[in-house]
Amino acid sequence: MIERIKKIQEEIRDFYSDNEREIEEFRIKYLSKKGLIPSLFNDFKTVPKEQKSEYGKLINDLKNTATEKLDSLKNSLTDVSHTGAQTDLTRPVANIFNGSRHPLSVVRNEIIEIFQRLGFIISEGPEIEDDDHNFGKLNFPPEHPARDMQDTFFIKRKSEDDSNPSDILLRTHTSSVQVRVMENEDPPIRTISPGRVFRNEAISARAHCIFHQVEGLYIDEDVSFADLKQTLFYFAIEMYGKNTRMRFRPSYFPFTEPSAEMDISCTICGGKGCNVCKYTGWLEILGCGMVDPNVLEYCGIDNNQYTGFAFGMGVERAAMLKYQINDLRLYFENDIRFLHQFRSAF
Ligand code: DAH
Repeated sequence: MIERIKKIQEEIRDFYSDNEREIEEFRIKYLSKKGLIPSLFNDFKTVPKEQKSEYGKLINDLKNTATEKLDSLKNSLTDVSHTGAQTDLTRPVANIFNGSRHPLSVVRNEIIEIFQRLGFIISEGPEIEDDDHNFGKLNFPPEHPARDMQDTFFIKRKSEDDSNPSDILLRTHTSSVQVRVMENEDPPIRTISPGRVFRNEAISARAHCIFHQVEGLYIDEDVSFADLKQTLFYFAIEMYGKNTRMRFRPSYFPFTEPSAEMDISCTICGGKGCNVCKYTGWLEILGCGMVDPNVLEYCGIDNNQYTGFAFGMGVERAAMLKYQINDLRLYFENDIRFLHQFRSAF
């Protein structure tokens, strides 16, 4: 009998839980009306006289130990929920949400990192630009219809007595940074320019008035279209996987000659045709070309000595291909349910 009580005493001392249900089970097992300890008190009658005093002391101790244990377990439960204090240091920590990067930052960083491996450095320019840097020095002649390709936000309104629009504007592309770099640096130039750009577009799933681009520029002696292709091929493989194929379609940009648009084989169907690539097997990812000699000249670079290539890509588009996000508005709404999905991305 006495041995049994000592065993129970040990059991109670060793018991630990931070689970409310288990603590309640502990109480029921030892201290409830039909529990072990009250039944030991009942047994007191049957204990031989000479053992009564020892027995009595033991079961009283037992009861105290159990009550104290119960109180302390209950206290530590409320402590944790009220103050966050933890008594069990081996217990896994509560899940704290640390925030996450925006998918556009994740993809922009990935693009930057790939070009940095090739020796490109980052340069940035202002979002509020003048006409010269956004258009003029990029070989958009005044009144040229190519300016209409990019619906521009002008900062000052047309004044009443002056019919010329303001020449201060929100940059419509990051190509403006090319101009600033070329004006300020001598070749060789190898730079990428990530940034926000603005166009006066009605907001829909497929168009937005703010979006992000990464511009690339490489100027040196003897830079050729082959260099452009190889650089962008490296990028495509690193970004979209080693089985990616690419193709170039002739295009037009005022600041490059020749100009091209680059497609990659569809990242979803691998080129077989699906609704993302509209059953063509190809996805357009960027515009590029050899820097027009006029642009070099306008920016103070000797176009007899130097040639170069440039490219520009949309970050939203790249993120769409990576995460299948097909509504541009999601990027700017800051809906926490959308953003939480990128917790594991860096
Ligand atoms: N600036 C162009 C746009 O926003 C993209 C672009 C095309 C940039 C060709 C370039 C380039 O540097 O060479 O549509």
